[in-house]
Amino acid sequence: MTKDTLDYTCVDAMKDPNSAFRITDMLRGLEGIIELTNQGLARLKAKTGDRVLEIGCGTGEDTRAIAKNVGSSGSIVAIDTSETMLKEAKNRSMSADSKIDFQVADVNNLEFPDRTFNCCWSQRVFQHLAEPTKALNEIARVLKPGGRVGILDTDWGTFAIDSQDKQLTQKITTCFAGLIQNGLVGRQLPRLCANSGFKNIDYFANTIISTNFEMLFDDFGMSEALAYLEHQQVCSKLELDSWKEELRKNHENNCFYFSVTMYGIVAERS
Ligand SMILES: C[S@@+](CC[C@H](N)C(=O)[O-])C[C@H]1O[C@@H](n2cnc3c(N)ncnc32)[C@H](O)[C@@H]1O
Repeated sequence: MTKDTLDYTCVDAMKDPNSAFRITDMLRGLEGIIELTNQGLARLKAKTGDRVLEIGCGTGEDTRAIAKNVGSSGSIVAIDTSETMLKEAKNRSMSADSKIDFQVADVNNLEFPDRTFNCCWSQRVFQHLAEPTKALNEIARVLKPGGRVGILDTDWGTFAIDSQDKQLTQKITTCFAGLIQNGLVGRQLPRLCANSGFKNIDYFANTIISTNFEMLFDDFGMSEALAYLEHQQVCSKLELDSWKEELRKNHENNCFYFSVTMYGIVAERS
């Protein structure tokens, strides 16, 4: 079994890297993510002429929004470990408002000199990092004193799904959070940022709510998580099939919901 939908550490090695665009586009259309992104970018306050670094830009959705804020006198370096993602981001950013330099790079080993950028931005990347502190230390190094970092990420420990079998649901959502490299990072952001020397921490959140049954299983990766639980003999196929069937019936009766909370942080480098 694979954990493709749950593992963005190596998009290019996915069975179908192009599926990452479809899932990214679907997530980026969710009201909760749109609202949190707007809140985060407003708090980041990237302004005309700023030099910005974006980590894990994916298809470049936020890159283009930041480009509008920094204008033609500003610039953005948008990095990602995936060449597939960067190619798509470049194609979608032909008419951007400022100079965007898309580069293949890993946040853990940034090649920029100390004190290069006014702002740094990263959305839904830290949950996939094995060493978030190393990444934050790198970000602190390349930011100018007084520069700001903005990070948005999910806390999978807040994953809420209603089923009559509460115990099994708890087991499934807990295992799901454990399948993500850094699944509880949303709640950890203030401590991690403080430990890396950031100050004036502004912390905010938004809950994503969906009634879309297929989205949970196909796009959020629940089907892969269930296959993993069965493979690891954590749950039996019978238990998992009847859990899914109950949710399907709830969906048919218009009472299927799931939610997860995403957190944002904007903090200042000392
Ligand atoms: C879930 S996607 C989010 C994309 C984009 N930020 C968005 O919100 O639409 C995570 C992205 O981070 C990239 N990524 C994962 N690990 C990375 C690392 N160590 N350094 C830089 N980018 C990384 C992945 O290739 C992927 O494009």
